[in-house]
Amino acid sequence: MEGASPSQPAAAEHGSAAGERDQLLDHEYDGIREYDNPLPRWWVWMFAGSFWFAVGYYFHYHVSGNGTSVAAAYEADVAEAREQAAKSSLAQPVNEESLGKLMADAGLMKDAQAAFALRCAPCHGDKAQGLIGPNLTDNAWIHGQGTLTDIYNVVDQGVLAKGMPAWGKQLSPIEVRKLAAYVGTQRGKAVPGGKAPEGAVVEHD
Ligand code: HEC
Repeated sequence: MEGASPSQPAAAEHGSAAGERDQLLDHEYDGIREYDNPLPRWWVWMFAGSFWFAVGYYFHYHVSGNGTSVAAAYEADVAEAREQAAKSSLAQPVNEESLGKLMADAGLMKDAQAAFALRCAPCHGDKAQGLIGPNLTDNAWIHGQGTLTDIYNVVDQGVLAKGMPAWGKQLSPIEVRKLAAYVGTQRGKAVPGGKAPEGAVVEHD
């Protein structure tokens, strides 16, 4: 505690290691003189330790690309939570209402967009504008009227004879619902440069 032994000289506080410690350097500036004591060993170890930790950290997170940044880890957790919340919709039957709820969840639709880019874009184009498969952003539908349920049925069962896979066999039930809802968000967007409409045009009010 401060002032516990005021009469003790400063040197004694640090343990009076004779010899190397507290040797005055032989210069003097305006009456000010200084010792040449080494930094405490624990301090040097902490300094070296934090230096090497920083080097390792830098390579792990910023160079190698292996480390998950705090922001990315957070985003992954939030996406996981969204997925869990969406799964509660599996308790409801597939219909306009349950699919419409998924469609209204912007975060979930962002996840679905990534899934669409992976699974569907090779045939339907990155903007769903149509490629091998038909344009999904127009108002023309080969199968059904373009209701969410119609879309779900095609996505779930596919049109094998025409090259549209049956995603219900490959993806989890919530994934199929999410993707159907995502197609729902693209309906009628009429992306410029899209494939010419196929099927029957459905008038919307
Ligand atoms: C291998 C190519 C291919 C992939 C991958 C693919 N589709 Fe298709 N899709 C097609 C073809 C071809 C058709 C047209 C079927 C027909 O002519 O009856 C189609 C039709 C559809 C239709 C119906 C369109 C209409 O006018 O009735 C929807 C909806 C659809 N696909 C959604 C999806 C979704 C969602 C995915 C990703 C999960 C996907 N497709 C992946 C080839 C594909």
